[in-house]
Parts: sequence; structure tokens; C-alpha cells
Amino acid sequence: MSEKLIAPSVLAADFSNLQRDVEMINNSDADWFHIDIMDGVFVPNISFGMPVLRDIVKHATKTIDVHLMIVDPDRYIQTFADLGSNILTVHYEACTHLHRTIQAIKAAGMKAGVALNPHTSVHLLEDSIQDLDMVCLMSVNPGFGGQSFIENTYSKVSTLKEMITRKNTSTLIEIDGGVTNKNAKQLVDAGADVLVAGSYIFKSNDPVATVKDLRKLVN
Ligand code: DX5
Ligand code: ZN
Repeated sequence: MSEKLIAPSVLAADFSNLQRDVEMINNSDADWFHIDIMDGVFVPNISFGMPVLRDIVKHATKTIDVHLMIVDPDRYIQTFADLGSNILTVHYEACTHLHRTIQAIKAAGMKAGVALNPHTSVHLLEDSIQDLDMVCLMSVNPGFGGQSFIENTYSKVSTLKEMITRKNTSTLIEIDGGVTNKNAKQLVDAGADVLVAGSYIFKSNDPVATVKDLRKLVN
């Protein structure tokens, strides 16, 4: 079994001490930086944009995992590549020509991910899973950090894992939203590879220790 990955979501960081928080994650057992980009249209919230990402990348020493919660993501693929994104995830619900979008992300030199809202069936990926480096299962409705985990996610993970095994692809399963020590183990047991955690890590008293505890739980 491959190693499980932990991706702190910078959305929950202290933006007035962003360099400090980025360096804290650099020096932790975490694997990736998860970056939430929200446009106020696809989701009812606006997070931050290019200048902030540029400054995060300037200090970050780990993989940059960008989650686009925006309409018409095709317009910004090259921009996010130029900013230093390693993985670019777009929403299934925001892409009319998903196949073309995935190919464009790869052509720009990034790994390609697709995120599914809680109501979107994993079966809709039957014909694209072989092209995907990652599927991000939203375990909350996208738009805000600090929401509670939707329990139906476990069965989506199992179904998706079965599809990935059957199709013999190496697609990673990422879980995003409400991840804590209460659900992490059950998620990886069901087949999850990457756990995103925002509030659980950054709002804890000792984020570095919280990452370490999460890592012990899942590996
Ligand atoms: C939600 C974002 C998540 C969020 C996770 O729209 O995509 O990445 O930051 O935050 P927590 O872990 O606090 O639910
Ligand atoms: Zn996210």
C-alpha cells in the first residue's frame, strides 16, 4: 500500500502571518499545500487569488495542490501553471468539455484532478478516470472551511476505489472537507490517498503536532 498524503488547506491559515504558516507546514510532516481558489460564482464565497498564491509558492517547499472552485476554469489553466501549481483540480460541475480541460491541464505540465460535489455520483467518471491523476471527493459543500463532514463520503470512496482498481489506473483519491482524527482512518481504509484538512490543523493549538497525529493515524 502506498503512503497516504496529508494536505493542509491554507484557507484556514492566518493570512496576516502567511509566511509563518507556510514555513510551519514546510517544517511539518505534511506532504502538500492545498490551495482553495473561489470565485464567488461557482461557490458562494471568494477566497484569494493569484498574488496570494504567488507569495505562498515563494515560501512553500512542498507540492502545490490547487483546487479551483471557479466557473470556466479553462481560462486560467496557463496562469496557474505559470504560478507554480503542480496539481490543478477543476470541478466536474464547472466543465462542459471535461476531456478537453484535462488534456489542457496536462499539456501545461501539471497533474490533472477533478473534484466532485457531494451530490455528484462517482459513476460519472467511468469514461474519464483513466485520464485523471486525482479525483477530489468533496466531503462538504465547497465554499467554506470549518464545515462538518458528510458521512455518505465513505461509500463514494469505496465505489471510486473499486472503479480505479477495475480500470487499473493509478488515480489518487483526495478527500476535502471536514477531515479530522474522527474520520481519517475510516477514509484511508475505504481507499483514500490524500486527506485535505484546514481547520482541524490550523485552528489546533499545535498544528505541527496535529499533522503528526494525523499521519500516525493513517500510515
Ligand atoms: C472547501 C475547501 C476545503 C476547505 C477544507 O470549499 O475546498 O479545502 O478549505 O477546510 P476544512 O478542513 O476546515 O473543512
Ligand atoms: Zn479544497
